[in-house]
Amino acid sequence: MEGVPGKGPDGLASLFDLLEEGVALCELVYDEGVCVDYVVVDANAQYAAHTGLARADVAGQRASALFGSVEAAHLRECSAAVAEGTRVRFDVFSPRLGRHFSLLVVPMGPRSFGTVVSHGAAPGESHEQALETGRLAQRALLDNQPHLAWLKDVHGRFLAVNKIFAEACGLGSPELLVGKTDLDVWPRELAEAYRADDAAVMAAGRQKAVEEPIEGIDGTRRWFETYKSPVFAPDGSIVGTTGVARDVTERKQAEQRALRAEEERHKLELSVFQAQKLESLGVLAGGIAHDFNNLLTTILGNTDLARTVLPPDQPARAFLDDVELATRRAADLCREMLAYSGKGRFVIQPISLNQLVSEMGQLLSVSTSKKATFIQALAPDLPSVLADATQLGQVVMNLITNASEAIGDNEGTITLRTGALWCDRHHFLDAIGDNERLVAGTYAFLEVSDTGVGMEAETLSRIFDPFYSTKFAGRGLGLAAVLGIVRGHKGALKVSSRPGKGTTFRVLFPTHGGPAQAGEAKLAAARDLRGDGLVLVADDEAAIRTLARNILERAGFRVMTAADGREALELYKQHAREIRLVVLDMTMPHLDGEGCFLAIRELNPTVKIVVSSGYSEQEVVAHFVGRGLAGFVQKPYTADQFLGKICDIVHASE
Ligand SMILES: Nc1ncnc2c1ncn2[C@@H]1O[C@H](COP(=O)(O)OP(=O)(O)OP(=O)(O)O)[C@@H](O)[C@H]1O
Ligand SMILES: [Mg+2]
Repeated sequence: MEGVPGKGPDGLASLFDLLEEGVALCELVYDEGVCVDYVVVDANAQYAAHTGLARADVAGQRASALFGSVEAAHLRECSAAVAEGTRVRFDVFSPRLGRHFSLLVVPMGPRSFGTVVSHGAAPGESHEQALETGRLAQRALLDNQPHLAWLKDVHGRFLAVNKIFAEACGLGSPELLVGKTDLDVWPRELAEAYRADDAAVMAAGRQKAVEEPIEGIDGTRRWFETYKSPVFAPDGSIVGTTGVARDVTERKQAEQRALRAEEERHKLELSVFQAQKLESLGVLAGGIAHDFNNLLTTILGNTDLARTVLPPDQPARAFLDDVELATRRAADLCREMLAYSGKGRFVIQPISLNQLVSEMGQLLSVSTSKKATFIQALAPDLPSVLADATQLGQVVMNLITNASEAIGDNEGTITLRTGALWCDRHHFLDAIGDNERLVAGTYAFLEVSDTGVGMEAETLSRIFDPFYSTKFAGRGLGLAAVLGIVRGHKGALKVSSRPGKGTTFRVLFPTHGGPAQAGEAKLAAARDLRGDGLVLVADDEAAIRTLARNILERAGFRVMTAADGREALELYKQHAREIRLVVLDMTMPHLDGEGCFLAIRELNPTVKIVVSSGYSEQEVVAHFVGRGLAGFVQKPYTADQFLGKICDIVHASE
């Protein structure tokens, strides 16, 4: 029976073995009615220890053989005590073992009795005193140490504990714990863990050091460094466990604080590393996109021109259509790369995320897989954000496309949610990228979650890298662009995903107090795409100069071209009176677009100058704020786009 000491043969046996005193079960031997000896039937471990005999040598042996001789007077006293059922104590000396013993005889049956053996008393000390001294010594040892200490039998029942231990579990006196187990004292989970430790210590027969929590009576959890040891009987058998536990809560707390600090430092390092990675990849992607835009401008513009000179029934038109389609796709790629580099085109205005999503409604539902259920949960009264509508549209599309692809041909749900919340530094800790730059405030968010395939941690750590894709035909630019756009808007990006369960992306943008405007800028009314007069075009790419000349000359303009800024300035000086408009590329050798602009303006503060670049309008225009730039043309451009801009400016001044 667990929990009740002393019941059952095992319990008794183990209890006997844990006693300080030697205990033996004996049987008197009679010869013709006279007691002549006694046999030691069985004895506990301490009996052997007290006598200095091995346990196996004791059982079944006659006392006279064990001790060398037994005094007849003692035998008489013993048999009289057994007959009368009274206890008797006497001191004996064993000539064989050369030891004094103190012996208590406890009658048990017609011939049997138990003996309790302890060392002989110190000279001048009574048995009771000796026993008392032993107990006192034990208690003094236990209670005066600063750590919790205990002794348990093989079943995990407490045989002795010290005062601190009793106090730790809310009991006033150590005696109250005797006979109880961990299960009576601690919460079940802890108690079972302790018992498992005890079992492990006994199975291994070796001391074990563990660090474990103990729930105090006041509910506070403290940490203890515990040494648990098996208790051996002299014959080598294990009869219980003993332990000492030192309170190491303060050290533990300091360690945990250090660990947390280390984790934070690691996160910070990671975030700095991410920022550097974004920075350098951004420069690379932006550079490539810029150069490609120049090439695409030539391809797209010339395709356009070629078509205008071909008769309508010419079959080569179809080929040109394909060239244009492919070029537009390439331009889309460049747009994503520019977005990633943070150099995409920006037209910042107050935007309502809800309105943006509603306006995209049709587009979104065709982009999602047929099997997927598309749910929109748009929060009412959403504050507006200052953003570029086209770019936000790109974010939504890229996220929805990914969600749809994650669901694939299975059934699933895609949920698009908007909302607003207050975010502080803490909220950005698990955001992607260089979240240190984010400021606390109210953010409007847009969240796309799907019940698709989800991602492993390994994939998750790479999804924002440009050109990382797990899809057969994926370009791996979708999320790179999303990240670039979100960063460009000083927003935050969060993602959570579990393999097989789905993924949630959340983009947060700082809010803006003013009223939101419609997502898309209204298209300009039909324009007059013809003009006259002299236009000076400066670009270091010969193909672009030719393209611009072709486009403008076909519309009625005269064109003069320059291969760099210095040449453009020279030409301007020579033809200042005739030139109606100057078109400058930004990056040119000798004198760049900005330098050339300033030099020409010095000669004539009212001349109209347009800048054309593969970089974003926002970035370029920033160089000319307050300097009277007439316009900007984004590369790559179609003939109509280029001409439209030039004509608008020329006609506006008429
Ligand atoms: N919702 C999602 N569920 C599971 N995996 C996703 C999800 N969104 C993105 N991923 C993983 O991230 C990778 C990168 O996504 P990203 O949009 O940048 O590129 P892509 O979709 O592979 O190609 P594309 O350039 O055509 O968008 C994907 O290939 C996919 O492994
Ligand atoms: Mg994608």
